[in-house]
Amino acid sequence: MERTPLIAGNWKMHKTAAGAVALLGELLPKVAGAACEVLVCPPFTALAPAADILGGTSVALGAQDCFWERRGAYTGEISPVMLKEIGCDYCIVGHSERRQYFGETDDAVRRKALALQAEGLVPIVCVGETKEQRESGRAFEIIDKQLRECFNTSVDPRAVVVAYEPVWAIGTGLTATSEQAQEVHGLIRRRLGELFGAAGQGVRILYGGSVTPDNVAGLMAEPDIDGALVGGASLKADSFAAIVNYRRLG
Ligand code: PGA
Repeated sequence: MERTPLIAGNWKMHKTAAGAVALLGELLPKVAGAACEVLVCPPFTALAPAADILGGTSVALGAQDCFWERRGAYTGEISPVMLKEIGCDYCIVGHSERRQYFGETDDAVRRKALALQAEGLVPIVCVGETKEQRESGRAFEIIDKQLRECFNTSVDPRAVVVAYEPVWAIGTGLTATSEQAQEVHGLIRRRLGELFGAAGQGVRILYGGSVTPDNVAGLMAEPDIDGALVGGASLKADSFAAIVNYRRLG
């Protein structure tokens, strides 16, 4: 099944609204005509100005988190309805930093994913093992558990993206080798197949963790790697554009 590659930038807690406008102004001409789908995920406060700039371009907008209720007494939270109104198409859920620092559970990830889909947004569900879990040979078991708990049959496979992000590779400069990543992506693909049947073949699985212009082409050459979730290298127009344009340049 044909899957359009998706290159997504996760800006994390970087860029003010003004900084986001400046970065997007620099980025847009460099990614015009990209062969893949391009997505940027700025912090909440930069979403509205980013949406203004991205309107009419082929670059999509996403958020980095949300809550699962539509509205209510949930101080500090942002709902999928609000993200939709502002022009988001995607939202990352279950990023390892949210799991680690903010106690996000698989159950919360599943609720968020379903709430996003109910509003017509596409959740990007992150899974991945820590260094200790990999070293003790438990990586597959951990990822499998995350998948089983973050997905149930109510999730629409036509509107979801999975991101495999080994925690030990995030922001560390240590990337999983293409073979290591493919091994896990293959496992994820099989599980999606068990869960969703043929539709599991259409789900894009991104790799994330120290993706750079130098390693993206090798990763993207693997059969089950359908894109990248890029942190650090998405904060500079040149490096993110080089990742987006990996085919044209490579
Ligand atoms: P990194 O982050 O590219 O800086 O390793 C990836 C991510 O956390 O999504």
